[in-house]
Amino acid sequence: MTIPAWRQLLRGARQREGRSASARWVQLATVSAGGEPRVRTLVFRGWAGDEKLDLYSDSRSSKADELNVQPSVEVCWLLPKARHQYRLRGVIETLSVDEAPEQTRHAWNSLTDTGRCLWHWPHPGQPFEADAPFPQTVDGAQPPPPHFLVLRLNLHRVELLDLSHHPHRRTLWCREDAWRSQRLNP
Ligand SMILES: Cc1cc2nc3c(=O)[nH]c(=O)nc-3n(C[C@H](O)[C@H](O)[C@H](O)COP(=O)(O)O)c2cc1C
Repeated sequence: MTIPAWRQLLRGARQREGRSASARWVQLATVSAGGEPRVRTLVFRGWAGDEKLDLYSDSRSSKADELNVQPSVEVCWLLPKARHQYRLRGVIETLSVDEAPEQTRHAWNSLTDTGRCLWHWPHPGQPFEADAPFPQTVDGAQPPPPHFLVLRLNLHRVELLDLSHHPHRRTLWCREDAWRSQRLNP
């Protein structure tokens, strides 16, 4: 299968950002058990095949509970230099250390020593305790902790709003339509 057209546009937009760290920041929207919206920033970690996007997280965090109930999500990715907004919809497959030891080990090894330390901090979202350990680095020789998660987003719908033209260009691609592009009103 050839890479979907939206992936090529996204790659071009990411390249325009150069080495900026924020070019890998995406907003992940989930739904709480009570049906309320939740959103937060995560780092894009890479592609798993043509249509799957990897994020890393922590099974102790609220989003993990939300995903257990409702794995359908939307990710918003703004690439300001290209003036592109991507909205990606799909279903998250949660890969845990227990169930997917190889993939999670590979993901853990891809992190820097500084990147890994977050998973050695105390339970996210719990009250702060000043004497709790907050390491600044964690050696890759250590195995991933049991709460390390790979969130693999299996995409089925991608929408781009491109503000660099007049009028703005809004394009939709759906997997069920073999990723054929459809132009929409902006
Ligand atoms: C720039 C930036 C990058 C972040 N990257 C991640 C990440 O890759 N994975 C993650 O779990 N949290 C990441 N966070 C923290 C989340 O935004 C969020 O605060 C945390 O995961 C708890 O979210 P929750 O309570 O909704 O589960 C990042 C925050 C910022 C500001």
